[in-house]
Amino acid sequence: MQKTDIATMTKPEVAIGRETLQQIFKVIEDNSGKAGAIIRVLQQVQGIMGYLPPVVLQVIATRMRIPLSEVYGIVSFYHFFSLVPKGKYVIQVCLGTSCYVKGAERILKTLKKDFGLEPQGLTTDGKFSLSTVRCLGACGLAPVIMVGQDIHRKVRPSQLKEILSSYE
Ligand code: FES
Repeated sequence: MQKTDIATMTKPEVAIGRETLQQIFKVIEDNSGKAGAIIRVLQQVQGIMGYLPPVVLQVIATRMRIPLSEVYGIVSFYHFFSLVPKGKYVIQVCLGTSCYVKGAERILKTLKKDFGLEPQGLTTDGKFSLSTVRCLGACGLAPVIMVGQDIHRKVRPSQLKEILSSYE
């Protein structure tokens, strides 16, 4: 663990901001004693922050008296939780068998080369983030990507610029 990580762990209000920290405490208090409290807390805190950074998981674990390993276990089990910041639009590249065979890897390479995007990464302007999925349920039209709520079928790497520019 780096020195700065330790500093932010011991002073979460520095890393998170006093106001956000108070919001997190309120969420924990509001859910205290309710069934599934930890899931609700994680969902609501992610709603506030957009994602769940390590320092926040530490705060939640300490405040709710739950082992940090258990909190991490929950966050990694449910795919809707994110430990990294997400862009305004999340690009999901399908790496299921059909999409992989039809060139999903070339799509990933192009996203890296032309947009500097790697899986779990974020563009510098915060507009796009990238994740990979196992199947988007449109295998017959592979390779498939999703941008936000939109599904794009039979995507060629050469189309990516045009596709993403429609979200500018
Ligand atoms: S494998 Fe990609 S949509 Fe099913």
